[in-house]
Amino acid sequence: MPLLIRNARILTLGPGTRPRRGKELADLSIIPAGEVLVTDGKIAAVGPKVEAPADAEIIDALGRVLMPGFVDCHTHACWAGDRLAEWEMKLRGVPYLEILKQGGGIHSTVKAVREATQKQLAASLRERLGAMLREGTTTVEVKSGYGLTTEAEMKMLRAIRRAAAEWPGTVVATALLGHAFEGELDDYARMVVKDMLPEVSKEFPDIAVDAYCEEGAWSVDACVKFFEKARKHHPIRVHADQFNSLGMIPEAVRMHARSVDHLEASTKKDLIALAQSPTLGVILPCTGLHTDQRFMRSRLFIEQGGALALATNCNPGTSPSHSIPLAIALAVRFCGLTPAEAIVAATVNAAAVLNLGDRGTIAPGQRADLVLLHHKDERALAYELGGNPVATVICGGAITR
Ligand code: NIG
Repeated sequence: MPLLIRNARILTLGPGTRPRRGKELADLSIIPAGEVLVTDGKIAAVGPKVEAPADAEIIDALGRVLMPGFVDCHTHACWAGDRLAEWEMKLRGVPYLEILKQGGGIHSTVKAVREATQKQLAASLRERLGAMLREGTTTVEVKSGYGLTTEAEMKMLRAIRRAAAEWPGTVVATALLGHAFEGELDDYARMVVKDMLPEVSKEFPDIAVDAYCEEGAWSVDACVKFFEKARKHHPIRVHADQFNSLGMIPEAVRMHARSVDHLEASTKKDLIALAQSPTLGVILPCTGLHTDQRFMRSRLFIEQGGALALATNCNPGTSPSHSIPLAIALAVRFCGLTPAEAIVAATVNAAAVLNLGDRGTIAPGQRADLVLLHHKDERALAYELGGNPVATVICGGAITR
């Protein structure tokens, strides 16, 4: 049945779906009092007044904010077990990279993931996806990366696909084949290129691949060798400069990475180079809050004309949060974004990271992934802390909440 949402403050986010850069990030292209017609899962019309069929179901927004569904473009939401004991260690002052070096951190989750069945992994991911949807996320990227063997990585990717099939939103899987390593890095990285990558390519030909460039994880050299092979068939993304600036950004830009994510420790020079390239930067402020109160210098990046996206980084180690509203609230407080910039970063720009041009804005022909807030002013989305600002979620044209 067609759906008409009327009497809404509509954040259309403007025409076109190319990533917003620099000053464009502040433009929400608002219709202060308008209507949106949804038919067949898509937006059919938007404007101050639209023609609607007589049988359309009507939602009166009562002047509240209607905006695109959130796109969470960086998560590790498929995991098993928990990291509560390590979190207590961290609270007592043991750094994240030290826990990793001692065989914990990512390796603890690897152990739990290997012990879990595909069905168990899919069920726990499905629960997290449910929580995300309730807070307005209608598209989510989910990485593998806790398998570290071809068999376990494939199990994760299949679990992600299985959970996706049972969820009304869209799940985009990413093969994080360079998250950590066992044995010697060089041998392990060679195994990834020789065995793991071809298996992934066969079953998931369009998937993006990712690596974690960091001390104690993958070196720049290992990442470059891996990406040079992988990029022949797959888009590439990279975690870089989370704790240490190792020089991955120039390489990522050279290899046309879709995004570079984290960036907390990036140098000014690297941030400027990234800002002036087509590669998107992704900020993960929940990680700063949970891990060590360090955040990317996002203002500099935006002022240099960068295309910035925002994500939760939902994972058991550095960011136990599935909430884009929380990520927005933190981006505004700790990364210097305005509420409007944070909204653009979590919608149209996050969709660009996933190469999804059919969402992230409210325009005819776009997928009808919409969020109606409890609020009449979108700044309240960034202002509120810890509540759920989302009243109604429409996913592919269906009201899910
Ligand atoms: O992006 N740092 C690398 N990967 C994740 C953390 C994964 C984990 O600790 O389980 C991140 O922060």
